[in-house]
Amino acid sequence: MDNKPLKIKFLEAAQGPEAVKLLRQAFRLSERNARNFMDAVLAGNRFRGRKIAFGATLNGKLVGIVACERLICANDNSAEIMDLAVDEDYRGRGIGPQLMDKAETYIAREWLKGRFGSVRLKDATKRDNPHSQFYEKLGYEIDNNPGRLPCGNEPLMVKALNNAEPVALRA
Ligand SMILES: CC(C)(COP(=O)(O)OP(=O)(O)OC[C@H]1O[C@@H](n2cnc3c(N)ncnc32)[C@H](O)[C@@H]1OP(=O)(O)O)[C@@H](O)C(=O)NCCC(=O)NCCS
Repeated sequence: MDNKPLKIKFLEAAQGPEAVKLLRQAFRLSERNARNFMDAVLAGNRFRGRKIAFGATLNGKLVGIVACERLICANDNSAEIMDLAVDEDYRGRGIGPQLMDKAETYIAREWLKGRFGSVRLKDATKRDNPHSQFYEKLGYEIDNNPGRLPCGNEPLMVKALNNAEPVALRA
């Protein structure tokens, strides 16, 4: 069935409708909210702007997306993973971790330019499963210095980039 390798590239405008479906399936978003979100990241992709998204395709079908936002400014060398979603039928095959790796590599190289920084996210995998260790396995830890409140049962997580030292220990 999956006779071609997974490809992870900048999401293209033509993939917008598929990406909206994926987002709605993963996060139970309204059509309108999902479209607005995708419009913003697709505009970002065109100019490699503050918001970007990568899409994972298998045999031409979009099976996962990751969207990131650049927050890097004078006082905050960080970026945020806004959304990560894998098609229900393709979960458990390591696609989510590959998308995260792509996003982190891009942030470390292109946004941080090799300087120390961090990636933050809200861990929605703990929403339905409080024992989920999905992001811990990818090197994330609970953010002790989040600068904003966690949302319900989705704790804020952080991972250092371009440095081996865990971010939470630096706070
Ligand atoms: C979280 C998510 C992106 C993980 O993507 P993935 O490609 O399935 O990641 P993995 O292949 O590493 O699998 C993650 C875990 O799900 C388990 N899993 C296996 N089959 C699964 C299935 N059919 N459905 C859900 N999870 C499955 C895997 O065994 C793995 O558990 P383990 O780490 O204990 O082995 C995906 O489940 C998803 O889109 N969830 C809904 C949206 C969401 O919560 N996104 C995170 C936003 S912070």
